[in-house]
Amino acid sequence: MYNPELPLVELHRHLDGNIRPQTIWELAQQHNIALPVHSLDELIPLTQIQTQTADLLAFLARLDYGVSVLADTDACYRVAYENMQDAKNQGLDYVELRFSPFYMARAFKLNLQAVIEAVYAGVKAGEHDTGVKVQLIGILSRTFGLQKCQVELDALLACRDKIIALDLAGDELGFPATLFESHFKLARDAGWHISVHAGEADGPQSIWDAINLLGAERIGHGVAAIHDQPLMQYMAQHKIAIEACPTSNYHTATVTDTANHPLKIFVEQGMCVTLSTDDPAVSNIDLAHEYNVAKQTIGLSDKQLNQIQLNALDAAFLSENEKTVLR
Ligand code: ADE
Ligand code: ZN
Repeated sequence: MYNPELPLVELHRHLDGNIRPQTIWELAQQHNIALPVHSLDELIPLTQIQTQTADLLAFLARLDYGVSVLADTDACYRVAYENMQDAKNQGLDYVELRFSPFYMARAFKLNLQAVIEAVYAGVKAGEHDTGVKVQLIGILSRTFGLQKCQVELDALLACRDKIIALDLAGDELGFPATLFESHFKLARDAGWHISVHAGEADGPQSIWDAINLLGAERIGHGVAAIHDQPLMQYMAQHKIAIEACPTSNYHTATVTDTANHPLKIFVEQGMCVTLSTDDPAVSNIDLAHEYNVAKQTIGLSDKQLNQIQLNALDAAFLSENEKTVLR
């Protein structure tokens, strides 16, 4: 369990990977969208992963059900708002929610800027009603290729004040960071922070590239750093935080099981380790679950868990003043 005396902060949570099965079912009914099942009971095992999948892409295919029912911007607003209700119900004080407007817009060819505006309105209404502080991270979905990522980036830049950072997610092996230097130069010039999925499906060089070529200040997953001592040292020295998601890493076959996750070694190396859920509705977990895994399965001490909780606030894309309010 996390320490309720300390602020609970989650830095790596996909809004479009956290769509409730009930909502998927209701939106499908409302918009007459065909699903490959005939009831909510049958839908749940399709959208929620119980065990390990073959690889990252097999895992990501499970997220497709959720975005397949986003028929209009009201649906985008609804899932954004419900993400804030979930954050409140799970005890979070502050959350950075990330989303790919292209992925959310894709099934019904929605206008990308309209999707971003609906998501922003949904999370802000949720922030108002729940008291959970939120900021949005825009994602470039590398799976769809460079051109689509440029379109996605242009839409995000048109809404630049609604976004705090840029991320690169999706197929890490097929679309390496080296392809996205110009995209992330524009993002840095826009004044955004940078967090990149790296070292999840690919090796340590992918993490070096995220840092050196894209300007990543935080790394999503970063599991492969375990194979590169100088990289772990570099990340510790430069306070490049790891957004660790142990259950997701098991589900994507990044680690063979959570007991083998390198989290404890990262902590012992002095790295700025944080804990997150990644896609909580798909993995059927909450952040408390990940703190329990870190303690019971990976063997971290309460002191180390407290440090992880404080690291998350430290590594948040917030000003020092905003952090002080949360402390
Ligand atoms: N999008 C949602 N979850 C992801 C993950 N674990 N890796 C890459 N892209 C993602
Ligand atoms: Zn992720």
